[in-house]
Amino acid sequence: MKFSTKRINLKKESNVCIIISVFEKQQLTLSGKKIDDISGGYISSILEWSNFTGKIGQKLFLYDIPNFLYKHILLIGCGKNLILKDKEYKKIIRQLNGSLQNVNFAKTICFLDELNVIDRNRYWKIRQIIETIHESLYNFQQFKTKNKKSDYKLNELIFQEPKEESLRKETLLAIHHGYIIGKNIKLTKDLANTPPNICNPVYLMNKVKEMAAKYKNKISIQFIDEEEMQNLGMTAYLAVGQGSNNETLMSIIKYQGNSDPNHQPIVFIGKGVTFDSGGISIKPSDKLDEMKYDMCGAATTYSILNLAAELNLPLNIIGILATCENMINGNSLRPGDILSSLSGKTIEIINTDAEGRLILCDVLTYIERFKPETVIDIATLTGACIIALGHHYTALMTNFQPLANELILASRQSGDKVWQLPLATEFQKQLQSNCADIANIGDKTAGAITAGCFLAEFTNKYHWVHLDIAGTAWIPQPNKNATGRPVALLAQFLINRSKLIEEKTQKI
Ligand code: BES
Ligand code: ZN
Ligand code: MN
Repeated sequence: MKFSTKRINLKKESNVCIIISVFEKQQLTLSGKKIDDISGGYISSILEWSNFTGKIGQKLFLYDIPNFLYKHILLIGCGKNLILKDKEYKKIIRQLNGSLQNVNFAKTICFLDELNVIDRNRYWKIRQIIETIHESLYNFQQFKTKNKKSDYKLNELIFQEPKEESLRKETLLAIHHGYIIGKNIKLTKDLANTPPNICNPVYLMNKVKEMAAKYKNKISIQFIDEEEMQNLGMTAYLAVGQGSNNETLMSIIKYQGNSDPNHQPIVFIGKGVTFDSGGISIKPSDKLDEMKYDMCGAATTYSILNLAAELNLPLNIIGILATCENMINGNSLRPGDILSSLSGKTIEIINTDAEGRLILCDVLTYIERFKPETVIDIATLTGACIIALGHHYTALMTNFQPLANELILASRQSGDKVWQLPLATEFQKQLQSNCADIANIGDKTAGAITAGCFLAEFTNKYHWVHLDIAGTAWIPQPNKNATGRPVALLAQFLINRSKLIEEKTQKI
């Protein structure tokens, strides 16, 4: 699938499908009016006689248009309001997907970026279109031997090239960013959907090696195995994987996009439990298959580093895939065990199913050595997060409000939603232990927050945001599928950061 921009001469194009929007009361947009004029009022007469009213969700294909060499015109209903809300615009562009599937034209010209959306520019509208199309193209059929869905036939979507240079640049940038973000969302989904008998820590390590081979001069990698973790004192992390036959492995990906040696890195840490059985505190079997998705934080981290390299961002970024498997055998971690973490703090295990925080706490200490400017962890950490925010919002917690504000802004720009939860000392008390420095779970209340509070104990040396993606990383049954979230959010955050750097260097 290719996306491009071109000076379109409406009279000359042939063999394409043209998409135009129609508001209620048969109001056409600029390009629609032009086509109507060229065709001698054909479109308006169709609108008058057909039952197409212009409501959002309606669409109508037209063929054999007078004075036209084109094969098709697709009319898309845009509703009453000439100025649209985000939601309305997204609903309109989602109409594209179904309509363009299984049709026989290779090229489509899209004028939907002409529509006005409150507070959104051309860049946003084009990106939205491209990302939505990517989304609708996705299917995971690698393991199906029969009944595979047929492939999409459309292979090029063309946007009108604006005359003004700055708008032209904006269009090209939107196409480029939309394409790369869409591609990396797909990458995240593929890794997440891959079953846990295949996608284990070694599989992810090999993927990391593949990425490094592709970007030799920008990316360097390192792996910390069980022996090295033992030597370092990462006892809490190691304990989670000790009941599994799969090796515990931490993958480190370093992307060097800024040559200034004083440029401190942004560190992403992804929870990568390739299967979470709960351990001795075993989970009920209902929906247990979905615990293959407990590595979605690592999948996101992987794709975000790949995206940084593809976009050549002027930043230094480190990605940690904190992988292991939470299983049960005679060597498993027990409730009641006390572990000494890398930070020196001791942890009493009350529940072996609260394993994510045990892995992350050691990684949060380990990465102090990189002197990070910002740290963001991404984890499918708590079921309680789904109770609090459902499947719509990622939970965000922080020890530095300006960083949270940056992510909230990126969330508004990208549409990849987050909602902040408070990290307050009141909650910290719930983690008291009689035997050790801290317990690994609190009581039944505010579970997403107490998990965040647990992590906060290990983040005193830097600015940090915790993203709990338990509710947003995948869609549960009956349409079980990874969502690729929060790749769009983090991509936007990095694009914003890059812009700041570019502006700074231009001033110098
Ligand atoms: N990976 C799970 C969290 C999870 C559960 C994500 C369901 C998405 C859907 C995590 O390791 C876990 O098991 N957390 C426990 C913590 C509890 C024991 C305090 C949970 O949420 O039940
Ligand atoms: Zn887990
Ligand atoms: Mn668990």
